[in-house]
Amino acid sequence: MKKISFKLGISFLLVILILEMLLFFFLYIFIARERIENETDNLLGRGMNHRDVLEKNFTPNTIEHVALMEAEGDTKVIITDDQFDIIGASHDFNENMEILIDIGKSMDFTHHGTLVEERWNTERYLATISPIEIDGTYEGYVFMFADTNPIRTMIRNITLLFLVIGGIAIIISIIAIFFLSQFITQPLIKMKEATKNITRQGNAVTLDIHRDDELGELAREIYTLSEELEHLKNERTEFLSSVSHELRTPLTYLKGYADILNRPNLSVEDREKFASIIQEEATQLTEMVKELFLLAKMDKNQFSISKEEIPLCDFLKEIVSKLTPAFMEKNISLQLICAKDIYVNIDPIRFRQVINNLLDNARKYSSESTSVEVVVHEQKYGVSIDVRDQGEGIPEKDLPYIWERLYRVDKSRSRALGGTGLGLAIVKEIVELHGGTVEVKSVLGEGTTFTINISR
Ligand SMILES: Nc1ncnc2c1ncn2[C@@H]1O[C@H](COP(=O)(O)OP(=O)(O)OP(=O)(O)O)[C@@H](O)[C@H]1O
Ligand SMILES: [Mg+2]
Repeated sequence: MKKISFKLGISFLLVILILEMLLFFFLYIFIARERIENETDNLLGRGMNHRDVLEKNFTPNTIEHVALMEAEGDTKVIITDDQFDIIGASHDFNENMEILIDIGKSMDFTHHGTLVEERWNTERYLATISPIEIDGTYEGYVFMFADTNPIRTMIRNITLLFLVIGGIAIIISIIAIFFLSQFITQPLIKMKEATKNITRQGNAVTLDIHRDDELGELAREIYTLSEELEHLKNERTEFLSSVSHELRTPLTYLKGYADILNRPNLSVEDREKFASIIQEEATQLTEMVKELFLLAKMDKNQFSISKEEIPLCDFLKEIVSKLTPAFMEKNISLQLICAKDIYVNIDPIRFRQVINNLLDNARKYSSESTSVEVVVHEQKYGVSIDVRDQGEGIPEKDLPYIWERLYRVDKSRSRALGGTGLGLAIVKEIVELHGGTVEVKSVLGEGTTFTINISR
């Protein structure tokens, strides 16, 4: 796998290198040409100056004077007559210069002066020719020579300077690009690690979410995503445990009743009664499982509430009658006090679970030969249902916490009774989903009363 920082760096570097090379190339060409033009212009200018002087006064004296003037300079002058024979020179002249005079001879020069040799990089001299024109005829010529060695040295120095500056620029670019790509890719790598962590362990995201750019935005999105995921996971776990609780409570009763059915001295009547309870209970369980499957298919980690108009007393009577045998096993009397038939708007399956859970607690946490009552009162706002027992009660300090998931007052004993601490949490959730409230009053050693209030 090629790293993104590598790819980014290489492409940046290529672009910058090309730009730098183009820039340097043109700059170099421009500067070099400018310097050489300067040299040749200078040479032509000097030639013209000498020519002007000689045109005014073409005498051996002046010729000597001109030659003397150049003797101190970097350039050299040779003055010839109209036959190109040398009649004056600032320096000793050599073969190269004579060849150049020969070349100049056959050139199309102008009065302005003309370049005889301009190849500064291969030849020894740059040379110009300026004719001395007196009364319409050329009486002589001024040849100017400039040594090309200093020019070559100058151009070499410029080249060297450019190479050094170019090299430094490239090194700085490489370093800058390295840091730049790190600056961009480091957070990306971190985010990759973070998302990997989310999928592996669930959360533990530590990202720089305060960055003020797209990378910061991405980090924030990932952070939100991980929180959402965590939330979903918790929701699913809670839902699954609620589901298992909803299934387990009725199943415990089913098993209890099946055990009773196995007893040898059971009357035919009782046998039929238990068999029919088991049958109805199993049907209801099937319904519940069907609905749970539906919820799972919809990917909803929550119970839905579908309310119906229900006659409350009949509804409670049926639940109580099914639980009575279980209470009788423990010699606890279970009574329903419901005077008038009141219609309420509830979800029968969910609400059955509420009553089941409360009665299950009442039975579990009461000792033998006590009584449990379910009492319905009509209220101004609607209706209240009390589930009252004469059991062990709940210590006052525990009362605020019993609604929490997994909270149990007496851990070891509750575990012995098969409790998980979910029952009351589910009760509260369902009642509140119905828009109702649930309260508890308890006196230690005397009993507990749970009250559900729902509006009609
Ligand atoms: N009627 C009651 N009398 C005395 N204590 C109770 C009563 N109802 C609940 N409690 C206390 O409140 C705790 C929480 O009850 P909850 O129904 O949520 O859990 P559980 O009964 O222990 O387990 P689960 O209902 O999940 O099987 C219980 O462990 C018990 O200590
Ligand atoms: Mg319980």
